Amino acid sequence: MGNIHNEKILVLDFGSQYTQLIARRIRMCQVYCEIHPFNMHLKDIEAFHPRGIIFSGSPSSIYDDDAPMVQRELLDLDIPILGICYGMQLLTHLLGGKVMRAPKREYGKAQIVVDDPSDIFAGFGKKGTRHHVWMSHGDRIEVLPDGFERIAHSRNSPIAAMKGRGTLFGVQFHPEVVHTPKGIEILKNFLFTVCGCSGSWTMKSFVQDAISTIRRDVGREGVLCALSGGVDSSVVAVLLHRAIGKRSVCLFVDNGLLRKGEADEVEVVFKDHFKINLVRVDAQEHFLRKLEKVVDPEKKRRVIGNEFIYLFERWARELGGITYLAQGTLYPDVIESTSFKGSSATIKSHHNVGGLPDRMGLKLIEPLRELFKDEVRLVGKELGIPDRIINRQPFPGPGLAVRIIGEVTPERLSLLREADDIVRQEISRAGLYGEIWQSFAVLLPVKTVGVMGDGRTYENVLAIRAVKSVDGMTADWVRFPYGVLERISSQITNEIKGINRVVYDISSKPPSTIEWE
Ligand code: XMP
Repeated sequence: MGNIHNEKILVLDFGSQYTQLIARRIRMCQVYCEIHPFNMHLKDIEAFHPRGIIFSGSPSSIYDDDAPMVQRELLDLDIPILGICYGMQLLTHLLGGKVMRAPKREYGKAQIVVDDPSDIFAGFGKKGTRHHVWMSHGDRIEVLPDGFERIAHSRNSPIAAMKGRGTLFGVQFHPEVVHTPKGIEILKNFLFTVCGCSGSWTMKSFVQDAISTIRRDVGREGVLCALSGGVDSSVVAVLLHRAIGKRSVCLFVDNGLLRKGEADEVEVVFKDHFKINLVRVDAQEHFLRKLEKVVDPEKKRRVIGNEFIYLFERWARELGGITYLAQGTLYPDVIESTSFKGSSATIKSHHNVGGLPDRMGLKLIEPLRELFKDEVRLVGKELGIPDRIINRQPFPGPGLAVRIIGEVTPERLSLLREADDIVRQEISRAGLYGEIWQSFAVLLPVKTVGVMGDGRTYENVLAIRAVKSVDGMTADWVRFPYGVLERISSQITNEIKGINRVVYDISSKPPSTIEWE
């Protein structure tokens, strides 16, 4: 097996909102890449041995006092570079060309005319062919650096793309976004033709590599893996099992706050099918007891988190021989702590047991820390994990407890679980489950009057929440066909005794959040 990290592309982040997207597109081309801050040290860049470097865009202007820069020497290392938007302007500026404020800011769809259909524009038709691209810039290139030539132009950008010195390229537009339909071709041309990559980063090769790395790192020691049934921890569990078999123990805590049928399904899939060394801890009563009379959402979270840590420590001691703790940390979590913008507030894996490894003296193993979420799903497929687990919508660590507003009691849990199951089934039946980021039911601490037969009822209100989102940071509510809402509502009110009213949440995030807490 070849080394999957042999061909690496370095993405230098100048603060663009699209930096992660650039990296994901490169990975889709089966080339490994990493994002690092723009001020990565020159000797670290050399030690990284990139086949090529991409300069991202930036909200800054090259003329800002604190404009992010790179050392000029970087351009003399003979490493191919593709500068995108600000990245192109930076190349121009450093090499003695001229960047000016454009008479008008260009944002949105534009057309470029290709002047040189070779190199990064190979396969773009004859000279003079027009192509749609996505622009978002205030500055533009007025004078090319010495030795550079224009390879595309547009109405507002006389120099929309340039090349020079054989391996330096710049594009004023964004090839990484879907609104540049042939953008991926530009990236492929850069990766494969200019940088000479072959595309060795496949999830099949990742799996082989991860297995041998785990074997090498862990040796004969024992690993504890907290399995939640979500895609990340499921993939970690199966990878570990493939690598070290029974020396990896999965701890699955049934805290009584899971969705209907979920705990049994996890057991069937991982214990019976994958033959994983799984310990299912039935802690339902335990958690419910601790949650008695707890109404404050933050307190609920604390109680659940503490119980989980307590169980975890107890079982690690009980099992013995554990020296490693496995976590499903993903690449976006890793970049956040090092990137240009510093740690931002994207969703954290709250079920990751932060602080626990130190407290228990365990070493940490994070087999997915190089992967984006879409890659984790592909690895999951590669490992034979069923689609319904791979494509599962995110589910919060504290589970249904954050979807019961007010006290969590067995009766209220049971109402919510049944209603939630109907929501899930109806949405799946309508073929919409895969298109939705999250869809679920929320039980409110409100009773309203209803009528059933000749009688008056006074029962609970249930809210339905369904949102589309890319990363959970922002979200918009789903415009369901009325028929779907109607079926959900009538099934719930007909079949679940204790709910006589269903409402649909039409709030976006912000200003609302996804969960109600
Ligand atoms: P909010 O409600 O803040 O949620 O808009 C954003 C995303 O985070 C998920 N979430 C959690 N995930 N443990 C998790 O693993 C948690 O405690 C937790 N709280 C919220 C939420 O479901 C949504 O996807």
